[in-house]
Amino acid sequence: MGNQSASLPHADPSVHKRISDVIILVGFMGAGKTTVGAELARLLGWSFEDLDDRIQSREGRTIEEIFRDAGETEFRRCEHLALRELLSEPESDCRVIALGGGAFAQEKNVSLLQDMNVRSVFLDAPIEELFRRCQQQGLHRPLRQDEAHFRRLYESRAPLYRAATFHVETNGKAVPQIAAEIARTLGISPSK
Ligand code: S3P
Repeated sequence: MGNQSASLPHADPSVHKRISDVIILVGFMGAGKTTVGAELARLLGWSFEDLDDRIQSREGRTIEEIFRDAGETEFRRCEHLALRELLSEPESDCRVIALGGGAFAQEKNVSLLQDMNVRSVFLDAPIEELFRRCQQQGLHRPLRQDEAHFRRLYESRAPLYRAATFHVETNGKAVPQIAAEIARTLGISPSK
């Protein structure tokens, strides 16, 4: 065999960039990002934050009110600022973050996460199951309308979600099982 080092690619600084101690959960409405995120954080002994909660406390109004009073474009602006703020905090080390269903479909958010070398996990389930979970939760979600609209929105976003670092299927699995699967996939040992 020849000199192996000769065949190594040129040093690419991004290869040596530190993988951040932040895990982002992405996926459509009803994917379980918040429930699984909280369980994953508990398992790892990390902190947990839901980006939608931060948006609401920064803005002093609910997601529903932001959509109703200012529209989706304004909501996306608030969402991006909240994400930027969250990731810039030193305490964001060892943190699991659940994004809202549309956040990972926004180019600026994705490039911010890429620049920070944050690993993302796409939680998925069949569309009928996602719709059923949303109905069951009974939460008001401005972008959850009828099933046909829900499906179209999911289909338009699915290719973007698939750009996440990892993909985990949630259908038929219990929350602790999904959290353990994510920890295993990421190669992080549970603390409990
Ligand atoms: C949205 C999903 C919601 C929330 C907002 C917009 C979307 O979060 O961020 O209503 O665009 O899919 P969940 O996915 O937690 O419901």
